Amino acid sequence: MVVAAGSGSRLGAGLPKAFVPLAGVPLLGHALRGVLSCATVVQVVLVVPDTHREQAAAVADGVCRELGSVTPVTVVPGGVERGDSVAAGLRALGDEVDIVLVHDAARCLTPVAVFDRVVAAVAAGAVAVVPGTAVVDTIKQVDADGFVVGTPERSALRAVQTPQGFRRDVLERAHAVSSEATDDAGLVERLGERVLVVEGDPRALKVTTPSDLEAAARLLATS
Ligand code: C5P
Repeated sequence: MVVAAGSGSRLGAGLPKAFVPLAGVPLLGHALRGVLSCATVVQVVLVVPDTHREQAAAVADGVCRELGSVTPVTVVPGGVERGDSVAAGLRALGDEVDIVLVHDAARCLTPVAVFDRVVAAVAAGAVAVVPGTAVVDTIKQVDADGFVVGTPERSALRAVQTPQGFRRDVLERAHAVSSEATDDAGLVERLGERVLVVEGDPRALKVTTPSDLEAAARLLATS
């Protein structure tokens, strides 16, 4: 599933982030190229703003034609928060799906190797898998007044990305309890299930601000 129903207010482009162009192609189009290039994907659920369902279907048609893909793409409207959008996407999955990948359209340049690593780890028996990279900054935990209350050991920290992969029953169980979290693995952790981290990729950066969009454009130009 690709969640693309965010407003993109921090990007300030005046249109939903997934439809902001990068080298002439909406972020959503780039994201779909990655997803549809993953050989194990059997269905794509595209979660978009209610106002942009037709536009999303047109972007998906274009990418499917370009790649010669016959993978079915279902377009559904998203919710207020990211978690609500994932929950909406889950309701649109076909019966045959056992492994669910949740991918942010905003991570539009994620290499297909990352999708493959996540799928392989779930297929090998992990119930939840996230791609992650080592952090270079020292991370501080602060209180409401801005004072440091702790410094986690940096070598034990990972910055996690998407696609995050799950056994379907586990993700559905997690969302039945609550959809409130900044990522889906966080919901699964609350169930007491173990989440495995596999190697992420710097190219899976999340486009959030105008400078991220510039960074993505540079990456695209040099790849
Ligand atoms: O807002 P943020 O950058 O954290 O969003 C991450 C991803 O979740 C984006 O691809 C965005 O389109 C999606 N999202 C969504 N529904 C929302 C909010 C965010 O699908 N209500």
